[in-house]
Amino acid sequence: MAKWSSIVAIVSLTVFLMSVMAATVLPIHPYLKVEDTFISKLYDTSNYGFLQIDNGLARTPQMGWSTWNFFACNINETVIKETADALISTGLASLGYTYVNIDDCWSRSTRNLKGEMIPDPKTFPSGIKALADYVHSKGLKLGVYSDAGIFTCQVRPGSLFQEKNDAELWASWGVDYLKYDNCYNLGLPPQKRYPPMRDALNDTGRTIFYALCEWGIDDPAKWAGKIGNSWRTTDDINDTWISMTTIADINNKWASYAGPGGWNDPDMLEVGNGGMNYHEYKGHFSIWALMKAPLIIGCDVRNITADTLKILSNKEVIAVDQDPLGVQGRRVYASGPDGCQQVWAGPLSRNRLAMVLWNRCSNAATITVKWSAIGLEPSISVSMRDLWKHEVISENTVGSFSARVNAHGCEMYILTPRRATRSSV
Ligand code: GLA
Repeated sequence: MAKWSSIVAIVSLTVFLMSVMAATVLPIHPYLKVEDTFISKLYDTSNYGFLQIDNGLARTPQMGWSTWNFFACNINETVIKETADALISTGLASLGYTYVNIDDCWSRSTRNLKGEMIPDPKTFPSGIKALADYVHSKGLKLGVYSDAGIFTCQVRPGSLFQEKNDAELWASWGVDYLKYDNCYNLGLPPQKRYPPMRDALNDTGRTIFYALCEWGIDDPAKWAGKIGNSWRTTDDINDTWISMTTIADINNKWASYAGPGGWNDPDMLEVGNGGMNYHEYKGHFSIWALMKAPLIIGCDVRNITADTLKILSNKEVIAVDQDPLGVQGRRVYASGPDGCQQVWAGPLSRNRLAMVLWNRCSNAATITVKWSAIGLEPSISVSMRDLWKHEVISENTVGSFSARVNAHGCEMYILTPRRATRSSV
């Protein structure tokens, strides 16, 4: 009996490891002649795979909207309902933005006598269950927020040591997503504070997305994959060019840890909040998509402008973020003053590559990329599709590519190898 069970265990482990490896194999196109070691280093996924939580969620990065970046604590149930309506009427919901997430400040500052969290009676008089019912009736999902500490950052009740009861309450309301913050954490290590909520959510029997918000302090990419579906890698974003670019660079470091089931989270989008110009927001959105970041809209969707909608609803850029291969793209080359002329790239399913030419200089610049920098053999011919012009700009580009890019702007492409110029098929 014992012998059989060991054999079954070994076979299951082998099948599991093979499936994990299959899921992480890099798409080395048959035409590519670049040495494996080079490609593997360029698009390293070696830290992904063995530790991922598997609640069936986050096969691709989560998409939706959150209250925090625009509304902060000025929220109420009307805002949430109107935003759910606006996600539908703008077409954003049908592009995949389905989580409607209430961030901090939904709860009253004290629990009730039974120790339960209470929705703030002034701002959420109908309660969270009624809101969940409302967003569900629109085909959307509802998220709430709490904290792996004794208070949230805005000093509402936190869930540390109350994980089970809180998770059960949210599940009874029909909540689909939890963002779990890091304030007032009593100095206890996050590796001790975040798993109890994972277990509590699992025990509810409801499928609830678990988004860790530990701010990257203890390098969560290294341990959060077995706990949650995404983990913040940085401090809070704000609506400035310097904040957005700094955060992109920090998130970039953790690329090899991301993959289906668990994603690096460089924080919510600021697109549309007014602190950056059109080119800067276009770059913000393109780089977030290339990095397989969660795409959580952070502006007032009820009053969205045409430019903002154009950025957030670019289907081709969204498709890069949501590509089933799930490999985080990264910065592969930088030149110019302080390395401000940058090339970011990442492999996609069906042997394609996504590439962003990102001009972080304060003047327009011509950025040139050689195939070797993005892992292609020099003789490979590719067709190039421009994801902002929505057209194929070349059927046959070989060896390198150059484009003029606006100051603080970007261009984004998908490269599809067309044919080998050598007999390597
Ligand atoms: C922290 C988080 C933010 C936001 C606020 C709310 O700063 O990192 O994303 O949730 O708390 O208070």
